[in-house]
Amino acid sequence: MDLLFLEKALLALFCAIILAVIVSRLRSKRFKLPPSPIPVPVFGNWLQVGDDLNHRNLTAFAKKLGDIFLLRMGQRNLVVVSSPDLAKEVLHTQGVEFGSRTRNVVFDIFTGKGQDMVFTVYGEHWRKMRRIMTVPFFTNKVVQQYRHGWEDEIGRVVDDVMKNPKASTVGIVLRKRLQLMMYNNMYRIMFDRRFENEEDPLFVKLRALNGERSRLAQSFEYNYGDFIPILRPFLRGYLKICKEVKERRLQLFKDYFLDERKKLASTKSSDTNELKCAIDHILDAQHKGEINEDNVLYIVENINVAAIETTLWSIEWGIAELVNHPEIQEKLRNELDAVLGRGVQITEPDTHKLPYLQAVIKETLRLRMAIPLLVPHMNLHDAKLGGYDVLAESKVLVNAWWLANNPAQWKNPEEFRPERFLEEESKVEANGNDFRYLPFGVGRRSCPGIILALPILGITLGRLVQNFELLPPPGQSRLDTSEKGGQFSLHILKHSTIVAKPRVF
Ligand code: HEM
Repeated sequence: MDLLFLEKALLALFCAIILAVIVSRLRSKRFKLPPSPIPVPVFGNWLQVGDDLNHRNLTAFAKKLGDIFLLRMGQRNLVVVSSPDLAKEVLHTQGVEFGSRTRNVVFDIFTGKGQDMVFTVYGEHWRKMRRIMTVPFFTNKVVQQYRHGWEDEIGRVVDDVMKNPKASTVGIVLRKRLQLMMYNNMYRIMFDRRFENEEDPLFVKLRALNGERSRLAQSFEYNYGDFIPILRPFLRGYLKICKEVKERRLQLFKDYFLDERKKLASTKSSDTNELKCAIDHILDAQHKGEINEDNVLYIVENINVAAIETTLWSIEWGIAELVNHPEIQEKLRNELDAVLGRGVQITEPDTHKLPYLQAVIKETLRLRMAIPLLVPHMNLHDAKLGGYDVLAESKVLVNAWWLANNPAQWKNPEEFRPERFLEEESKVEANGNDFRYLPFGVGRRSCPGIILALPILGITLGRLVQNFELLPPPGQSRLDTSEKGGQFSLHILKHSTIVAKPRVF
């Protein structure tokens, strides 16, 4: 770094401090802001609270500061909401006011400044994208069209595990095979394509680029440049890598999937009765001029990010809890045997007849919420919340994990006990009918993928428990369920080795 640049940066920092002090004095007089630790100029609360604002750390702040509090992360205002009433206010009552998304310098790159659906502000573009995506992805018709494909995919997982002698002795990292299954579940919907095995070169490339994108976006490494804009030049190297990954990834989607599909479509007659896959519908919207090719690519990008890993993490957590609670695993197996008959393989319509399986899924999503703070919301204009002022463009986090794990609201929430959803919480559904339980959010920006995620979870966990006894590896009495969080994800820290002993029918 050259000296002139450093000098300029220091001067700018000094001016920013003075300006920030003046602005902050003026603003706090005009507004009634939510409780907050005492901020220092420029850095706000950042140095006190650190980077890792995960659901547990934010819960600790809520206990000190209350159900709504403000953290000033450099120039960014972060408002955290931790009660069902305030969650209702943000997601439902004032759903329009708080229905936008914040992006940061990195998300701006990966989403082309909000040309996608997940990270765009609430408005015309979001409405159009959500409408265009609904028919090809988010209806019961899609579930009925693709459920045989999902049943086939988990069937292949079961066969592969059966064939692998290690699985029943030293154990295998089951997640790796399930990851291929989740890619196939979603790529069948999107492109009517599947990958034959974990070594398929295209799958290897795709998984690596998606992994890089996740790592770069979820990292806390770039926070300083986001919180304190004058430090942004120091992020140049990081942002360059982000741009390269983004370009290589979108190019891969285009060359190997989109263009291939277009070629195939051009060889068929237009009045063909063959079933369309999702991208055909999306390309129709492009041809009608509703969206452009970049939007099409960002839809593919969004599905890769929003659908595959979230569902995979939840499957992984579900398996880990079933291994660590053999009595619950046994009870689930008994339900499957009793309702379906021993050895009769579970299909999607069966999942509705299996209340204990549903309860296991709900309990997994409660205790191990994959997106514990939802995807950050944002208010475009100054707003009021819980009697406080929320300044325009604040990042608003709903601590959904705490809502579902607060002992004042739930009986022994730290216990993995699916029975709660058949007993005292029997009316609570995953679709947001109770503001204490929002694993998919609720309201305008809630997860449209719930309609696919729940049956996939049911078929996958059901088949595994029907066909195997799932155990920790030799010499271990239980699996390590330490958590790893990112900017807004929660997954298991160590991908566990699991012994899968085939059942004899
Ligand atoms: C167990 C699996 C999943 C979980 C736990 C999950 C959870 C969530 C959550 C918490 C949100 C944000 C809600 C909010 O901000 O209020 C979200 C948004 C979203 N999810 Fe999911 N999701 C899952 C699977 C899926 C799948 C399978 C798809 C697609 C096929 C999907 C597509 C989306 C999209 C497009 C959004 C953005 C909606 C918007 O901004 O309007 N998700 N998801």
